[in-house]
Amino acid sequence: MNKKTPSLITLPFKLEREAPPFETYDEQYSDKYPESLVRYFLKKYTKKGDYVFDPFAGLGTTLFVSEETGRIPYGMEADQNRAEWVASQLENWTGLRHGDTAKMLHHDFPKMDFVMTSPPFMHKHMKANPLYSGDPKKSGYNNYIKRMRYIFEQLSKLVKRNGYIIVHLDNLQHKQSFTPLVWDIGSAISTVMKPEKEIIVVWKNGRDDYPYTHCLLFKNAGIRKK
Ligand SMILES: C[S@@+](CC[C@H](N)C(=O)[O-])C[C@H]1O[C@@H](n2cnc3c(N)ncnc32)[C@H](O)[C@@H]1O
Repeated sequence: MNKKTPSLITLPFKLEREAPPFETYDEQYSDKYPESLVRYFLKKYTKKGDYVFDPFAGLGTTLFVSEETGRIPYGMEADQNRAEWVASQLENWTGLRHGDTAKMLHHDFPKMDFVMTSPPFMHKHMKANPLYSGDPKKSGYNNYIKRMRYIFEQLSKLVKRNGYIIVHLDNLQHKQSFTPLVWDIGSAISTVMKPEKEIIVVWKNGRDDYPYTHCLLFKNAGIRKK
């Protein structure tokens, strides 16, 4: 385990695992991240046997790579199809729960050594809040950022003291509208965990319109504020 992570790294952009049959996306535009990203950070921050958690498990990349490399995978996923499909591909499938990750402390998860995740992204101009499955009573970007902070506050209670958390994010450009997601979510998480570093990942063989991405590193150093 080597914690000295450079600020700029290069990794291959390749989605190695085939998409499940119910997902109709073009692989290049999936919300799944490449396995190389998870492999890189697991090698840096964990050892065999460690408990690795993904609160937004999605198509299971964190969990699959964790299992393949001898770590113990845990996670939560709100989408039932995705949760069932990921569980069906895992040996340690009981560590993945279907449901709202804001309720992670209602589950009997053990304390986690490490977290690697990518939350659902939201543009500022959008109304539907992906953290509440678009519930109109919880619409809007402010509600989204507030809920994100709450979720990471819950996470700070699930992760071991001084454990590390990697959050994968992108700032979003849509026509004339720019959403500084990396900054806004980064600031929200910084009220409950200690920000340690921004790592820029340059994609090798990536799309022309997606040359790099951001990973934020936090330490669960017990800095929760009201
Ligand atoms: C960006 S994707 C994660 C992709 C994942 N890193 C991968 O490689 O497959 C975010 C996921 O969060 C899920 N999600 C959204 N809101 C949620 C919530 N409140 N609780 C749990 N999962 C949620 C979405 O269904 C989506 O699958």
